[in-house]
Amino acid sequence: MNYRHAFHAGNVADCMKHALLVWLLRAMARKPAPFAVLDTHAGAGAYDLAGGEAQRTGEATGGIMRLLDNPPPALADYVAVVRQAGLYPGSPLLVRTLLREHDRLICCELHPEEYGKLRRRTARDRRISVHQRDGYAALGALLPPAERRGLVLIDPPYEAEE
Ligand SMILES: C[S@@+](CC[C@H](N)C(=O)[O-])C[C@H]1O[C@@H](n2cnc3c(N)ncnc32)[C@H](O)[C@@H]1O
Repeated sequence: MNYRHAFHAGNVADCMKHALLVWLLRAMARKPAPFAVLDTHAGAGAYDLAGGEAQRTGEATGGIMRLLDNPPPALADYVAVVRQAGLYPGSPLLVRTLLREHDRLICCELHPEEYGKLRRRTARDRRISVHQRDGYAALGALLPPAERRGLVLIDPPYEAEE
């Protein structure tokens, strides 16, 4: 497991994925009934785009940095949610900004450091649970959710096997 998302956070693919995620969550929230989100490969939850890893690749320059000040109308809501989150949000913190009182987020993350960061960043939110376990195995173990309404984000690193 060499992949660290901090090197790629904020790139074009991250923005496209997160914009779609925000759009889907808005659609889920149109009905008052609670829903659960399962994020099988959750990452650290938030990333410092001014930090060493992000600066080393510069990938955010062509992604979120181009959108922040003057987003196209279709992405304005997504960019507003990013701004609301504070530090550049990964999928769990993006989802958190859109959870309602009775919605839930279940996160799986295998990497010990990423898992630790995510736990610390979500510790005070009782709607969120974080598990250090294989996200694919969690699909079978944790679904369907008790709410019977859910959204699953499967976002593996696609790193080459060595
Ligand atoms: C692309 S990143 C996730 C980014 C995150 N979903 C976001 O949008 O901010 C993939 C993450 O999956 C983790 N990972 C790799 N294999 C895993 C597995 N089998 N189960 C759970 N997490 C895994 C990696 O440590 C990495 O943090």
